[in-house]
Amino acid sequence: MPLIIVRNDITKMKCDAIVNAANRTLLGGGGVDGAIHRAAGKGLLLECMKLGGCKVGAAKITGGHKLPCRYVIHTVGPKWRGGGNNEKEQLESCYRESLCLARDHKCESVAFPLISSGVYGYPKDLALRVAVDAIGAFLAENEMTVYLVIFDRDSYQIGGKIFADIQAYIDDNYADEHMRLSYSRRRYDDEAMPCDLSVGAAAPAPCVSMSVEPKPLEETMTLEEAIGCIDESFSQMLLRKIDEKGMTDAQCYKKANVDRKLFSKIRNNPDYRPAKVTAIAFAIALELDLAQTSELLMKAGYALSHSSKFDIIIEYFISNRNYNVFEINEALFAFDQNLLGA
Ligand code: APR
Repeated sequence: MPLIIVRNDITKMKCDAIVNAANRTLLGGGGVDGAIHRAAGKGLLLECMKLGGCKVGAAKITGGHKLPCRYVIHTVGPKWRGGGNNEKEQLESCYRESLCLARDHKCESVAFPLISSGVYGYPKDLALRVAVDAIGAFLAENEMTVYLVIFDRDSYQIGGKIFADIQAYIDDNYADEHMRLSYSRRRYDDEAMPCDLSVGAAAPAPCVSMSVEPKPLEETMTLEEAIGCIDESFSQMLLRKIDEKGMTDAQCYKKANVDRKLFSKIRNNPDYRPAKVTAIAFAIALELDLAQTSELLMKAGYALSHSSKFDIIIEYFISNRNYNVFEINEALFAFDQNLLGA
């Protein structure tokens, strides 16, 4: 998975490089800067002292010293002064410059904190959006695994409006499903009980089924004939849809937040069975509607269901035709769900 959002302490990340949210002196400070210097030991400070500081939006590289990484990339984020002083462009530059430095030093994996979202006061939801968009833009052109490391739950906020919309959507759909399930369970229990104990209850309207029913086999078929009618596989439908959409393989797997190696496994094995998050990630990359998504999932043996928060969040984004896999992952992370991609 090219972009992964994780809860962790960045000083514990075993990557090729970790990024430090430093200040212009590069001589250490509080927050993540202080944590990295404490974990790296004095040698890091001695090396930083030779760098001559760093401008806002720029990045410089040192060794990892006692940290479990080869390099530390020091970048200086903008202080938030209301948003009208080029803060967004400077913050974008922090991610871009750090990623280019990492690429130039042949790093295959890099971990970022949420730059400027602490002492420098950048609103956390805006800082997250800049981070995800800047990293996503780099990954569209480069192969690398990038971790966005969230230290504590409250340092992670997605946009308040989208969070509220998704929460309302979950409440509407998750509740219905659980009411329907408890009704059918009660109905089942009632049927097992004498009718005078049955509890009448108006059944909620059954939720709209999102699954696409498989075509039934003819009853007269022999087993051999039935096996001979096998449908196209997940992999075959995926490749067909990529062609129909006029996409290249790379455009599709990058939009799906899936790495190249896994995609070539899927391409070369018509019977490949992906994980559900991978299958859905490709449906998002192909911008399929709900029915087409259900059809693609069914090929891999999955269905979307209103008894799963994860599935309801996916349905929310597809129904709103928002196919930005990185934005969807921000929301999934906010709701403690698995992320899309592989
Ligand atoms: N691992 C990962 N993330 C961390 C860690 C850690 N160990 N410690 C803090 N963070 C997170 C914070 O929760 C915040 O979301 O890093 C993000 C950035 O916060 P700061 O470290 O305060 O960095 P920033 O807002 O860019 O301010 C930089 O603070 O520490 C000083 O010397 C630094 O002057 C500079 C300023």
